[in-house]
Amino acid sequence: MLAYRHAFHAGNHADVLKHTVLAQVLRHMNQKDKGWRYVDTHAGAGGYSLEGAYARKKGEFAQGIAALWDRDDLPEALATLRALVRQFNDGDKLLQYPGSPAIAQLLMRPQDQLRLFELHPTDYKILASYLAEVPGAEVKMLDGFASLKAQLPPPTRRGVVLIDPPYEIKTDYVRVLGALREALERFADAVVIIWLPQLQLIEATQLPQRLKATADAHAKKGWLHAKLTVAQADERGFGMLGSNVFIANPPHTLHAALQPVMPYLAKQLAQFDGAKSALEKSASA
Ligand SMILES: C[S@@+](CC[C@H](N)C(=O)[O-])C[C@H]1O[C@@H](n2cnc3c(N)ncnc32)[C@H](O)[C@@H]1O
Repeated sequence: MLAYRHAFHAGNHADVLKHTVLAQVLRHMNQKDKGWRYVDTHAGAGGYSLEGAYARKKGEFAQGIAALWDRDDLPEALATLRALVRQFNDGDKLLQYPGSPAIAQLLMRPQDQLRLFELHPTDYKILASYLAEVPGAEVKMLDGFASLKAQLPPPTRRGVVLIDPPYEIKTDYVRVLGALREALERFADAVVIIWLPQLQLIEATQLPQRLKATADAHAKKGWLHAKLTVAQADERGFGMLGSNVFIANPPHTLHAALQPVMPYLAKQLAQFDGAKSALEKSASA
C-alpha cells in the first residue's frame, strides 16, 4: 500500500536538512570533472506546489524553508540550498519546493546521470513528465530498494545514493539497512545518504546504531550523522520529533559545512523549547 504523499510535507524541517546535505554532497562531487551517477531510490514527484491543497493542508513548509527565506544570517550551506530553491522558483517568491530529483538536476552537468525510482503512479507520472526527457536522466516506476544494486558501481566509479523511504511500513527499516550493506558491498566508495525519522518507535531508535555498524564494516571513508529535533511527541507518544541524516563515505568537507547549520536549524525551526541538534562522525570520516 502506498499511502504516503510527500506533497503534504514538502519544504518542512526534514526536507531542509536532507536537501542541504544532498546539495553539499553534489557540489563537492562537481569539484572534479569526471561525471557522477545519482541514484534516488525513493524519488517522490520531484517538485511540489506550496500553494496547492496538499501543502496548504498541513503548512509544514512554514516551519521549514519559509522560515529561512528572508533571513540574512544563513550559514553558507543553507544559503546554497535557498539559492537552489530560488532558482527552482525562477525568482524570489516561494511558490514551489524542489524535491531531491530537482535538487540533483539543478546541480548536474552534461557528464552526470540521474537514476530516479518512484513507485507511486501519480508521483511517478509527475516526475517522469518533467525529468524523463532530460539527457542523462532515467525515471522508473520500480521498487528503489530492489533496483539499487544494478546501478552500482557507476561506470565512472563516482556515485551518490539517496535512500529516503516513507517508513510507513516497518519493513522499510530493515530494507534501508540491507540497501546500505548491499550498496557498500558492491561499491565501497559510494556516498550513501539515508534519511530517517525521529519517532518513539523501537525500529526508529535502533536504526542509527545499525547504520553505523554497517558503515563501520563496509564504508571506506566512515560516516557522518546529523540529528535535528524540533518538536515534541503528543500525549500518546505519536508524532515526528525531527529527523536524522546518515551519510556513509561523506565528502571530507561535509562535517565543517554542517557544523554551523545544525544549531542554526535547531534555533530557527524550533517548535518547542527543547529543540536541539547534534553532529556525530566516525573516527575515519
Ligand atoms: C519521502 S518521499 C521521497 C521524497 C524525495 N526523496 C525528496 O526528498 O524530495 C518517499 C517516496 O517513496 C515512494 N516509495 C515508497 N516505497 C517505495 C519503493 N519501494 N520504491 C520506490 N519508491 C517508493 C513513495 O511513493 C514516496 O513518494
